[in-house]
Amino acid sequence: MSLDVPQADVESTEDALLAAGAVSVSLEELGDEPILEPGPGETPLWQKVRVAGLFEEGVSPAEIMAILHQHLRPALLGDFDYQVIEDTDWVRQTQADFAAACYGDGLWVVPHWETPPADAKAVVRIDPGLAFGTGQHGTTALCLGWLDRQALQGLNILDVGCGSGILALGALVKGAEMAWGTDIDPQALKASADNAQLNGIGTDRFSLGQPEELPVEARFDILIANILAQPLIDLAGELAPHLKPGGRFALSGILNHQAEAVAAQWMAQGLVIDAIDSLGDWSLVQGHRPH
Ligand SMILES: C[S@@+](CC[C@H](N)C(=O)[O-])C[C@H]1O[C@@H](n2cnc3c(N)ncnc32)[C@H](O)[C@@H]1O
Repeated sequence: MSLDVPQADVESTEDALLAAGAVSVSLEELGDEPILEPGPGETPLWQKVRVAGLFEEGVSPAEIMAILHQHLRPALLGDFDYQVIEDTDWVRQTQADFAAACYGDGLWVVPHWETPPADAKAVVRIDPGLAFGTGQHGTTALCLGWLDRQALQGLNILDVGCGSGILALGALVKGAEMAWGTDIDPQALKASADNAQLNGIGTDRFSLGQPEELPVEARFDILIANILAQPLIDLAGELAPHLKPGGRFALSGILNHQAEAVAAQWMAQGLVIDAIDSLGDWSLVQGHRPH
């Protein structure tokens, strides 16, 4: 059962659905109002929200509506809908959404329930979880494609905004010696640690922490950051010094029209921009620090 309500009424609608016996309530977007990356603990909402309650089999919509009437003002009850959801194998369905995929020439991202192809050049195991980074988003795909084109043997890599750990782990399975992953979201750091374990990579090769835990003097051959344009602009002065002379970098999470502004800010740190790639709406800015 779902109700389309203004933002101010979301909480009372959630409460009313739970009072009517909903076993879970979810909030869905109605218009085109992308919320790109809320900070940890923040749950910004759209102007108008679809509040959907999931009920056990056998409850009638009329019974639910009768209870909702006791809790909500009539104006909120006009915009409702309900559907009967057929039973299905939800595990299988979820798994079907996360199929193995190849990035670049041969960097495979494979969930634990799939077998990698025999001819895969490098395989990183990633299970979908609460952190961003399955490979399916354009920005991650751009970064994985870039990593696949780099010679990484024996190098060390800084992954800023590591999310699921997909980029650092991709670099490590491709032969990088050591990686540092930072993220402001503790859930992401946990997901990265879990995925490191899934790949048999220990803390001797993959260090994880909040951005402020990264030693200021640490220097890297490769810097990759898939966050958003504004933090990439704000953090250019802080992050660029971590790149060694000759080191290469790739930045994503950038909408196409924002790429020039990000590139300019990183050039101002003495770095050279080599190219800007794009995939759909998203760009990847790549470059190096001259010797
Ligand atoms: C778009 S996700 C990228 C995840 C993964 N690296 C990938 O490419 O799929 C961005 C991640 O950056 C983190 N993040 C946002 N701002 C950050 C900052 N200033 N420093 C470190 N991490 C940040 C978010 O918590 C999120 O996990």
